Formats: sequence, structure tokens, C-alpha cells
Amino acid sequence: MTRERAPIAVIGTGYVGLVTAAGFAELGSDVWCVDVDEDKVARLQRGEVPIYEPGLEQLLARNSARLRYSTQLGDALEHARLLFVAVGTPATYSGDADLSAVHAVLDAIPASHERALVMKSTVPSGTGAAVVRALAGQGKGELAYVSCPEFLKEGSAVADFMHPDRVVVGDSGDWAGDAVIELYEPLGAPLVRTDVASAEMVKLASNAFLATKISFINEIANVCEETGADVVEVARGMGLDVRIGPRFLQAGIGFGGSCFPKDVDALKQLAGNSGYHFQLLTAVIEVNELQKRRVIGKLHKHLGGLVGRRVALFGLAFKPNTDDMREASSLVLSARLSADGAEVVAYDPVAEEQARALVGSIGYASSPLEAARDADAVVLVTEWPELVESNWQQVARAMRGNVVIDGRNALDADAVRAAGLVYEGIGRGGEG
Ligand SMILES: NC(=O)c1ccc[n+]([C@@H]2O[C@H](COP(=O)([O-])OP(=O)(O)OC[C@H]3O[C@@H](n4cnc5c(N)ncnc54)[C@H](O)[C@@H]3O)[C@@H](O)[C@H]2O)c1
Repeated sequence: MTRERAPIAVIGTGYVGLVTAAGFAELGSDVWCVDVDEDKVARLQRGEVPIYEPGLEQLLARNSARLRYSTQLGDALEHARLLFVAVGTPATYSGDADLSAVHAVLDAIPASHERALVMKSTVPSGTGAAVVRALAGQGKGELAYVSCPEFLKEGSAVADFMHPDRVVVGDSGDWAGDAVIELYEPLGAPLVRTDVASAEMVKLASNAFLATKISFINEIANVCEETGADVVEVARGMGLDVRIGPRFLQAGIGFGGSCFPKDVDALKQLAGNSGYHFQLLTAVIEVNELQKRRVIGKLHKHLGGLVGRRVALFGLAFKPNTDDMREASSLVLSARLSADGAEVVAYDPVAEEQARALVGSIGYASSPLEAARDADAVVLVTEWPELVESNWQQVARAMRGNVVIDGRNALDADAVRAAGLVYEGIGRGGEG
């Protein structure tokens, strides 16, 4: 797949930046990676990978000769015309996106008619226009600007980079957009070339739609609990309709992660700031917050109170195959359980280090069985395969109680029950 290509720069070496850098290196580009986090850059220079993402370590190692890491933007500016920006854009207290890291990058880039900023970070629609105005105000109006939103999913980010459903490029039709399209061309993905504002909106609208699908099926699950229907069967029946599709119809304890919550908030705020009240997204967010707490009610029902009860959390990361704890449902769950007087012990195959930085008040186990020891209840929080495939006979022997709450509807209910345990999922007919 390799061929001679111009060097590029990637600014911000987090989940998106590092995967983007490794992916373009695999396609043959020399990539200059820049980050303000000195520790992260030092680790990368030593050949360490600071995040857990399947396949990334191998991809970085295989292309190490094409990848350089620095804290100095100047190193990248010397070599690259296209500067991919992949810094974080977290939510502020108001729900608006915090664009301070993006602005820090803009301020540091000197004027040049030969360079372009390529925005990979997720930013509200209208940001590109504001950036272009700001650059002109700083006397750097000749810098080109391209919106190229990223759709990769943590846990399968490398495969998503190599096999994207689509590549979206928003630009004003100049050399920079052409150059970005050429970079992606070997992947053979469908291309949507459009204006900057529309490209920005594609990203926010896509995440908001997926989040809406999740909150929708969660509400169906909650109704199923009242009516005796099984949401897993309902979702299967719905998902076979090609107009609906089966994905993102898994009821559970809500969505988390670094993207959905903040992007849904950002779109809602963007609408609000423009004078439009986005009612649907207001409900999507509220349903999700309530859904994270539904497990608490189920535990109360089975245990008759949580004071002094020991609850084992199977999984902490916001989804399997990542160590990312940002906005994970486990954060709300563990805090609520602790507040209600329960003793919480958690096991996660890779997210413990990240979790410890956020949740100090719970115990951490080094295996699922250790977490389950003397537990009154086990809650499946993250559907890691090793947790889904637990030996329930062994788990039952380790526990002192017998309650298993399947927060992701991922367990084999019959296997759990065959071990003498009480199984309850989300929206599965109100069974006990
Ligand atoms: N994580 C995802 O799954 C995902 C998917 C699609 C889009 N996005 C978007 O991509 C962007 C990055 O997300 P992420 O998860 O990779 O974030 P991240 O927090 O993992 O990484 C951001 C990196 O940027 C660095 N940084 C901050 N300010 C900088 C500066 N001025 N110069 C250089 N580096 C700087 C940070 O040190 C950090 O390493 C966000 O806008 C996010 O919404 C994320």
C-alpha cells in the first residue's frame, strides 16, 4: 500500500491523533506528531503506547521509521503542509464545546500560504468560519482550512481508520481539500466533499442520531419491564427492518465515552445559541442520565437496601476494548452505590489505572472472581468478552448473595440461572 507521499503533521496524540498518525504512516506518509503533554511524547519516543487501542501498538511499531514525536510545533511546521488538528474539545459547564485547545493551536501557527489546518477534532458547526475569521484577524488569512471530521470508534479505531464508511471533507474547493482527499484516496471510501459548516454538522448529527437510537431503545426497554415484553426480542424484530437496522439497539445502562455525551450536548447548545430549542436531544440526554441509575433501583428491589451490601462491578470502561473512562456509566453507578452505603469492588481488564484517577472510593480487584468474592450482587457494566463468558458456577461459589444484574443484556441468562443465581437484565420482561 505504500507509495511516496508528502509529510503531514498531527497535532494532539490522543485516541484520534495517534490512530490518524499511525494510519497515514501505514499509507506511506511521514508523520510529525506534536503534543503539549511532555510525558506522553516521551513515552511515544521510547516506543510506548500511552493508550489502550487494539492493533495500535503493532501499527505504530511497524511504521516507526515514518513517525516522529515532539512537543515542538516548529519541528512539524518545518516539514508538513497539512496540519491535522486532533486536540480535545471537551464540554464546558454550559454544555458548549471547549475550543481552548483548538485556539491554542491556531495562535501558535504562523502565517503561511502553503499550509492548511485540517480539523479532525469535533467542533460545533460554524467553528470553521469563526477560525477563518480569527486567522484573518491575526494576519494569517492565507492559511487554508479544511474540516475533516473523524468517525472512528474507540476499541476498533485502527480498523475504522483503514476501512471508513465515508470520508467527509469540508472546504472551499482549494488545494488543501484536494490534498486531504488525495491522502485518503487509497482507502477507497465513499467521499462527501462539501462546505465546511455542513461537514462539521455531519459529525455532530451522526453522533446525536446514534445517541438518540440508544436512548430510544432504552425507553422501549423500560416500557418492556412494565408490560412483560423482552427488549432483546423486540430489538431483534425491529432491527431486521432495513430502514431501522440492528445496530445501536442494545438496551442497557446508557451511553458514555468521550464523544456521545459531549457531542449531543454541543449540538443541543449550538441549536440553543442559535435560538432553536432542540427538544429531542434534551430528552435523549435526560433518558440517558436516568438510565445510568436504573441498576440502583433493581439492586434495591433484590437486596432490600444497599447499606453494608457488597456489589461487584464487572467492567468499568465506557465500552469494551478501551481503557477510556470518560463519562463511563460506571462513574455514576459507583458513586450512587457508595452514596447509598454499598461497598463496591470493581474489576476491569484494562481501565483500572484510568478509573483509579477518577474513582478513589471503591475497591479494585485483579480478577472477576476476586471482585465477586462475598458479593451480594454482581453487575455487568462493560461487556468485555472475558466477563460475558464468566464461569457462573465459579462466580456463584465465590458470592455470598445470588443477584446478577446484566447492565448490557449481554449475558447468557440461562447459564447464569443454571448456576443458581437470580438474573435480571434491562427491559427483559420484568423477570427476576
Ligand atoms: N475518541 C474518539 O473516539 C473520537 C472519535 C471521533 C472524534 N473525536 C474527537 O477528536 C478530538 C480528540 O479526541 P481524543 O479522544 O483523541 O482526545 P484525547 O484527549 O485523547 O487527546 C487530545 C490530545 O491533544 C493534546 N493537546 C491538547 N492541547 C494541545 C495543543 N495545544 N497542542 C498539541 N496537543 C494538544 C492532549 O495533550 C492530548 O494528548 C475531540 O474533538 C473528539 O471529540 C474523538
